[in-house]
Amino acid sequence: MSSDTTGHTLDVQAIRSCFPALKAGTARFDAPGGTQTPQQVVDAIAGALTRPLANRGTLTEAARNAEAIVAGARLALADLLGSDADCVVFGRSATQLVHDLARTMAKSWGPGDEVVVSRLDHDSNIRPWIQAAEAVGATVRWAEFDTTTGELDTGHIEDVLSPRTRLVAVTAASNLIGTCPDMPAVARLVHRAGALLHVDAVHYASHFAVDLAALGADTLVCSPYKFLGPHLGVLTGTRELLHSLHPDKLLPSSDAVPERFELGTLPYELLAGSTAAVDFLAGLVPGSGSRRERLLRAFAALASHEDRLRARVEEGLAAMEGVTVYSRAARRTPTTLFTVAGSEPGDVSRRLAERGVDAPAGSFYAWEASHRLGLGEAGGVRVGLAPYTCDEDVDRLLDALLP
Ligand SMILES: Cc1ncc(COP(=O)(O)O)c(C=O)c1O
Repeated sequence: MSSDTTGHTLDVQAIRSCFPALKAGTARFDAPGGTQTPQQVVDAIAGALTRPLANRGTLTEAARNAEAIVAGARLALADLLGSDADCVVFGRSATQLVHDLARTMAKSWGPGDEVVVSRLDHDSNIRPWIQAAEAVGATVRWAEFDTTTGELDTGHIEDVLSPRTRLVAVTAASNLIGTCPDMPAVARLVHRAGALLHVDAVHYASHFAVDLAALGADTLVCSPYKFLGPHLGVLTGTRELLHSLHPDKLLPSSDAVPERFELGTLPYELLAGSTAAVDFLAGLVPGSGSRRERLLRAFAALASHEDRLRARVEEGLAAMEGVTVYSRAARRTPTTLFTVAGSEPGDVSRRLAERGVDAPAGSFYAWEASHRLGLGEAGGVRVGLAPYTCDEDVDRLLDALLP
């Protein structure tokens, strides 16, 4: 058990008992790729499908069930993201939502306009913006990061802002090396330049309580399968901006916000699972209050749990000969990327897997960052933590890394 400064404690063994997949016995460090799922989420998905279900409406019980699931999921994600329920958009994945958003925003861009992407980001927050910009003749500018410190500073953004900047797309946390740029400071710069800020919170939302306004984001995406939920994506943004955007849509489909951004029928069962995931997170530590208040307490306790385990992982790695750790930023998620001299990352991962430890290798779609770090396609071995990671997992990882 570990407790945060306010004394809230994660009962990790109780949390682990909720995850059927953990019974397979593997020590899992693959959470940044996708977390395991608690029984409560499985039950919510099954519950949605075993009760009568139809397209949203008010006439029948089945239609009302769909309506209630959608409303419930929008409220849950609004609580998680510090946004408003009527500004929560669901999609197939964060990648799909960013592609759609970029194409929609690009309708008002043209030659001479500039879009900023960052070298630190997952490709899903780079390529969609580049492709959308190129399609309308807008210019793409790159914000670099410091490969020695792993930091993406405000200066890196300032370097590439201009009066013609329309949008800056940057991650709140790198899924490769964990770096968390100072988003409120980035937002101030971006807004001072008269541009919009799109934030990739896919990795960040697994570890920190998101607050759309505090981050200063105009739009933001996350993916519930990274925080104990099912496989889908979520977009939120300021009401003013969402109402000003007009994505391509079918003629008979609703033009209301958020529905205008949601193409086709929503995956109701996955929405029910997402609500259950948010409720599960809110219940990580005991206590009362609104769901948002409970989430804030839970994330504080989670941070202290993950910080302690991350320190153990990093101390263990630092004591090993030939190991280089790339996760170095002052503020970062518990996501540690490393290489071992003389071994391919894939071989290290394979050896770990043979010893019952899942710590995958690669560049994890952070293609630009991995190349900038000199790691190319092969990337490194990534150790990521989750609410269910325990001390025994860390012991097993460190033991398995010994020759
Ligand atoms: C930081 C980050 N952004 C975006 C994505 C893409 O998310 P999705 O699979 O929902 O498209 C990932 C997935 O690994 C990620 O880690």
